[in-house]
Amino acid sequence: MDFQKYQQAADYIKSKISAQPRVGIILGSGLGGLADEIADPIVIPYSEIPNFAHSTAIGHKGNFISGTLGGVPVVAMQGRFHYYEGYPMEVVTLPVRVMKLLGIEILIVSNAAGGINSNFHVGDLMIIRDHINMLPNPLIGPNDENFGVRFPDMTRAYDRELIALAETIAQEQKLALQKGVYVSLTGPSYETPAEYKYWQTVGADAVGMSTTPEVIVARHAGIRVFGMSVITNEGWHFEGDYTNDGDEVVAAANAASKRMGGLIAELISRA
Ligand code: HPA
Repeated sequence: MDFQKYQQAADYIKSKISAQPRVGIILGSGLGGLADEIADPIVIPYSEIPNFAHSTAIGHKGNFISGTLGGVPVVAMQGRFHYYEGYPMEVVTLPVRVMKLLGIEILIVSNAAGGINSNFHVGDLMIIRDHINMLPNPLIGPNDENFGVRFPDMTRAYDRELIALAETIAQEQKLALQKGVYVSLTGPSYETPAEYKYWQTVGADAVGMSTTPEVIVARHAGIRVFGMSVITNEGWHFEGDYTNDGDEVVAAANAASKRMGGLIAELISRA
């Protein structure tokens, strides 16, 4: 995508907001409620922003929100774009580059995910310590030197200091946290039992359909990343007549939204 298109979107958003954001937040399925915690919000629908797509996934609204969280100026995406919606990767990841142009230094990504580690249960929060990207790499194509290098490092995709800080806060708040590897698949169908077992075998703890494209683009641009999954279903055992259902996934994510929000607000205020 032409650099000018990122600039156009960033200029439009800048014209609407007052403070320069330090942290960007991407709110996944059912987690958009965290946006309600943002103080003095300015809400910009995606449909108003030049070159932005419109979100259609269930549990996702389509707003860009500027304000403060934990006293820190933030911009949040209430709803993200998914590859399974048919968007090209450059559209899926455009908001991250726009947030870079707005000046963010830290990106917080969240998602709903299926637990495939047999210690994981519905409602658990998982710090993403690493990922396995099974989606097309969003950096394929000519490298945009405005943002970063051709071959960006991914050995520290998820910032170790932010992970340590989140763990400290969780201890203080007596909040149980899991930590693990997130694998992103295209979806939109959920996995078969054999597929869940396959991803467990190759080293993943949770499976979802998003996040890694935004993380790769953020790391390319030198943004520090913190990621968190809400475990919304268990892909490591299938008892009785259990089936996966998108509405139940969103409901489970909603139920964890407040807990995750408290942790993230504190993390941002101390990062
Ligand atoms: N698989 C893929 N994506 C998901 C899942 C799952 O089980 N749960 C929530 N998002």
